[in-house]
Amino acid sequence: MHGWIIPPPREPAKSVAELERERAAKVEELVGAGLLKSERIRQALLKIAREDFIPYSYRDYAYLEVPLPLPGEQSTISCPHSYPLFYEPLGLDAGHRFLEVGLGSGYGAAVAREVVGEEGSVVAVEIDPQTFEFAKANLERAGYIDVVLVNADGGLGYPPHQPYDRISITAACRSVPPPLTRQLAPGGKLIAPVLDDGRQFLSLVEKTESGLIRTEICEVLYVSLRGKFGK
Ligand SMILES: C[S@@+](CC[C@H](N)C(=O)[O-])C[C@H]1O[C@@H](n2cnc3c(N)ncnc32)[C@H](O)[C@@H]1O
Repeated sequence: MHGWIIPPPREPAKSVAELERERAAKVEELVGAGLLKSERIRQALLKIAREDFIPYSYRDYAYLEVPLPLPGEQSTISCPHSYPLFYEPLGLDAGHRFLEVGLGSGYGAAVAREVVGEEGSVVAVEIDPQTFEFAKANLERAGYIDVVLVNADGGLGYPPHQPYDRISITAACRSVPPPLTRQLAPGGKLIAPVLDDGRQFLSLVEKTESGLIRTEICEVLYVSLRGKFGK
């Protein structure tokens, strides 16, 4: 697994209409690749202007398959395909109580907010204060005012709103932090990049009556989890 080649920052030149066309083409590409199946996730990706969650000088690259740097230490907005890659195996759906660990730009939380709908809820935790402020401003500007935003160590979860039906960790962990599996509802699912012998594997954890069942989905490359359960 190699690193990423990030294009250089530049003055944005693309029009809103151009970015809208790129967004629609990206969604079609994700459907064609078999990564995107859920109609709710498809509608969310079509609706949300991803460019509005990206720092100004990287805005034109919103639909490129590269993670882009965010304000803060080691923070990135993940590649566009990461969202169906995480949310499809999770089976994220209407009514779910969703926790995101690693808010980053706020884009993943906005997508989740659309998917879980009125009956669901989204809590998102970010450890880096600068990244947190960036995401908060993006979400507010885009009108997502009812996402519960927490600037703290997400490895500890967020007990006030537990249990969660679905949890997504968007940074690589040595192993899944125990507070997060504790805060998962019975029958709930958690997804995270987990380290194994120096490589990262996207892992789905299901909380069943007979315990936690872990399945590896594919190899991935994410920034490391920080805080108490970081490396
Ligand atoms: C790949 S980025 C997240 C991308 C984000 N989901 C988005 O849509 O932009 C991973 C984020 O996890 C954050 N992070 C790392 N360790 C964390 C922790 N213990 N608690 C909360 N956030 C953490 C990083 O600061 C970074 O912003």
